[in-house]
Formats: sequence, C-alpha cells, structure tokens
Amino acid sequence: MHEANSSGQWWREGVLYQVYVPSFQDGNADGFGDLWGVEQRLDHIATLGVTAVWLSPVYGSPLLDFGYDVSDHTRIGEVFGDLAVFDRVVKGAHDRGLRVVLDYVPQHTSSEHPWFRDALSGRDSAHRDYYIWHDPSPDGGPPNNWASAFGGPAWTLHERTGQYYYHAHLPEQPSLNWRNPEVKRSMFDVMRFWLDRGVDGFRVDAVWRLIKDARLRDNPADDGGDSFEIGGAAAHTTVRQVQKYTADQPELPGLLAEMHAVTDEYDDRMLMGELHLKLERVAALGSRGLDLAMNFSLIDAPWNGLDLADLIRRYYAALPAGSQPNWVLSNHDRSRLASRIGPERVPGALALLLTLKGTPTLYYGDELGLPDVHVDSAHARDCAELRAPGLGLGRDPQRMPMPWSGTAAHAGFTAGDAEPWLPIASWAPSLSVERQETDPRSVLTQVKELLALRRELAALRRGAITVLSSDPEYLVHLRGDGDASVLVVVNLTDRRRSVPFPGSRTTRWSSHSAVGERDFLDGVVDLAPFEARLLTVGSPVTAAG
Ligand code: NOJ
Repeated sequence: MHEANSSGQWWREGVLYQVYVPSFQDGNADGFGDLWGVEQRLDHIATLGVTAVWLSPVYGSPLLDFGYDVSDHTRIGEVFGDLAVFDRVVKGAHDRGLRVVLDYVPQHTSSEHPWFRDALSGRDSAHRDYYIWHDPSPDGGPPNNWASAFGGPAWTLHERTGQYYYHAHLPEQPSLNWRNPEVKRSMFDVMRFWLDRGVDGFRVDAVWRLIKDARLRDNPADDGGDSFEIGGAAAHTTVRQVQKYTADQPELPGLLAEMHAVTDEYDDRMLMGELHLKLERVAALGSRGLDLAMNFSLIDAPWNGLDLADLIRRYYAALPAGSQPNWVLSNHDRSRLASRIGPERVPGALALLLTLKGTPTLYYGDELGLPDVHVDSAHARDCAELRAPGLGLGRDPQRMPMPWSGTAAHAGFTAGDAEPWLPIASWAPSLSVERQETDPRSVLTQVKELLALRRELAALRRGAITVLSSDPEYLVHLRGDGDASVLVVVNLTDRRRSVPFPGSRTTRWSSHSAVGERDFLDGVVDLAPFEARLLTVGSPVTAAG
C-alpha cells in the first residue's frame, strides 16, 4: 500500500491537479493527448508537489464533447490508451505518492452507448427507461421548455418511436433516468469497476443536474438578477433560464448519499461533485454525500479586495460544520486565469488559491500562467463553439496543448508529424515548463514554492482562517494561530501599496523576490505592484545571524 494510503481523508489536506487529458501530452504521435502522455509526465505532476491528479474522462467515446460523451464506461477509449496503460498510470502515480481521481459522468451517456442504442429500438426495449422519454406536447413540440446547456431545446424527437428524449447537454448526450433503480445499479457498478482498479476517487460530472422534476414543470425565465447558477455550463448557452426543475432537486442529497455509500465500500476514497449553484447551496451540499462540493466562485469573482473578502467570508460562514472547503480557480470550461484577470495578477491569485483554507484545484497550465490561445473558426473543435460560432461560448481557448519544451516542435506536446488537435500559440514555447524550470521567479517556480510551503507549514493545511482586510486594493488573511500562523498579503493593484497588519513578522515568501530573502516588518508591509507575500512569526534571519 502506498504511503499516502495510511492517512485518512487525504483530500482534506491535499491539492488536486486537473489534467485535461486531450491537451496534456500526446504519447502516440497522433496529435491528441492520452494516457501514454500522462504516464510520461507523472514526474512533472509529482515534482510540482500536489497530492492528486484528476484525469478528464478517458473512456470509450465518440469525442463530441471530448470524453464527456461516454459510449463504454468500462473501457479506455482507443485514442486515450488501454487498460494496461491506465493501470500503469495509477501505479506510477501511487508509486510517486500521488492519488488518482477519475472523472465520472453519470448524468448522461453518449448516444452511441449500447444502452441508448437499445432504448431507440422500441418503447418496450430493455433500456428504454434508462433515459428520460416523454410524449410530445399537444402541438407536437417538446414536452416542456427545458433548455440544453449548449443552447436550444433539451428535448429531441425520436421520430420512429414518436417520443422526445431529454438531454441536458448535446442531443448526442442523452440524460440518464436516475429515478430508475436499474440505472443506479448499473452506474454504481461502473464506480466499483474503477475503484477495484485502484482509483482514489471521482470528480462527478454535472452532478447538480443528476435528477430532474418528475412532473416536468417548465423552468422560469432568468431575469438576470438572481441567477440560480454561477458560471459553468450556464456560460456556454445563449438560452438563459433558471434551472429550477432541472437541477438541485429535493432528491439530490439522498442520491449523493447512495453514491457515497459505494465509495464507502472501499478505504479512503473521495467524491467531489461539479455544482454550479449559488454559493450557499454549494456549501450546503458539501455535507450531503459529497466530500468536496466544488466551489467555482473565484472564477466569477470581481478581482478586488472587497468582493473577494466578501465572497471568502460568505463561503466559510455557509459551510456546515465538518464539511471540507475547496476552491477552484480555473478549469477546462472557463477562460484561463491569466486571460480573465491579467498575467500580472496570476501569482497573487495562485498564492490565494494555495493559502485559503480548503482543498485547492489547480488546472494544468495555470502553473505556467498560460493565457487563452486564439482559435480561429477553421480550427474550432468544441461543441459549444460549433453550435454557436463566434459568440465567445467555445472552450477551445482554455484547452491549448501544454507547452513542455522551449525548442522542440509543437512545444514538445507531440513528437510526430501530426498537427496538435488544437493550435499551440507562437508564444507558448516561451512559457514552457523547460523555460520556466530554470527561472527563479517564473510562475512555475512560485507554484512549487507555494506548494512546498503548504507541505511544510501546518497552518496552511489545517489552520483556521480569518480574513483581516476590508480594502478594494489588497487582501490580507491569516491562517492558524499564534507563533505558527501565516499571514498572506496580496496587492491587487498596479501600484506600490503599504499594507498594515497586526504585530511584527518576517517575509517567508514573496512573488517578487527569491525565497531566502527575509526582512523584519513591524505592522506594515510595503508591496510592489501585484506582489503577494507570506509572512510568518519569528526572528529575521539577519537579526539571528
Ligand atoms: C461539465 C464538464 O466540465 C463539461 O466539460 C462538459 O461539457 C459537461 N459537463 C457535460 O458533460
């Protein structure tokens, strides 16, 4: 048993690293990332100093949503590898002390899945009720107004059997009927298949949509004022409606508890769920069957001290006792951090992510400070872009292949002649892992330093948190108590700022100067534009020497 298995609930002090497999590393020279590539790059992930790697879906799939359309739950898609390389990735990760979290997609299957093919064969087919079917409305249209996350109606008519089926996403992603006990049984067995192969947990896709209103009531229009969802899939559609009857139904917590009971059959496995709901609701679901109810609020936060402090305080206040906080700064569905808030703010944002109380999720490429890549219409691949071209709803820009090398062709992402599946920007090699590894102030170096401090300083992993500031231009928070506490100060502006803080401290880390420089500060810290610092209690090195 690998070392990390000896501690219970590893995710409570862990850091997750999200690998979007198609874009991480191509290992078979076809221009598309895969598990052979992940295997090659496990050392990068381990060297970063994270705890777990979360892999986007690698199952059999026609790839209309690049793996989020599963046609075979217990096979690895040919384009991603096979079970042999999957097992090697799990073992290689475990040997390095890393956990492996798999994306699990229970809300829908691909329309190519044998269950759905069978469901199409007739109203009496064995798997018909695995999906959500309904007769047309009296005018022949869809049964109600429910909209797809990718735009347009969420119902498609199957002419031969004369009924509509529901799909929260693409028509090629029919939603499963979780009111059917057979669906539960089959999908729980899918979990067991991968748990038996040694995975340490699941990121549960679209879990907030898992169960829908049994009466199929119409969703209300979104007046824009008090949106039910924050960001996420809501950002990829032109249709705005409140997901009142298609998400977060009263049956959801019970269902999550049943799902968790499956992971409880095994030691120390984790369930984290994708939930695009209001912050207070996300917080509440964290204690109801999910170990981590994913908190995306930083992605949409206005990047100023007042809004950030308010949202951080609100989140902690809403969390039920004992439930684990967590923070997501970026993912494969949203514009990259550097493009959202500007490259100069990235170190401060990463310092925030890695020092807030809770489990952080780091999106591949954010450790390099990558911005979005421009993808012209000829190269567009994402279904959200292809369905509504030019509206800025597509997700290709945040999925640029990882630049590993400053000199190799295709920045080292793929070794063959095949073009990478998405374009690699001309600036990418200058931000590559190879270039940043040797730069003492690169984003990569800073992320490694911050992760090393998290491992070293218990206050950053376990300490209580107090947000101390109320100022639009900076953010100050304190982790832990007394002599072991860590103060985190982030200048959010492009100007020098003097920031007051209680007591006296020394700089333990700065985004602007190499580790080792320690200055004694009494009640105020002068920060360079956008600088972030971690300050600990203790004698300055110079005074001691
Ligand atoms: C959420 C995933 O993050 C997104 O990429 C995907 O398109 C939808 N769920 C559908 O599976």
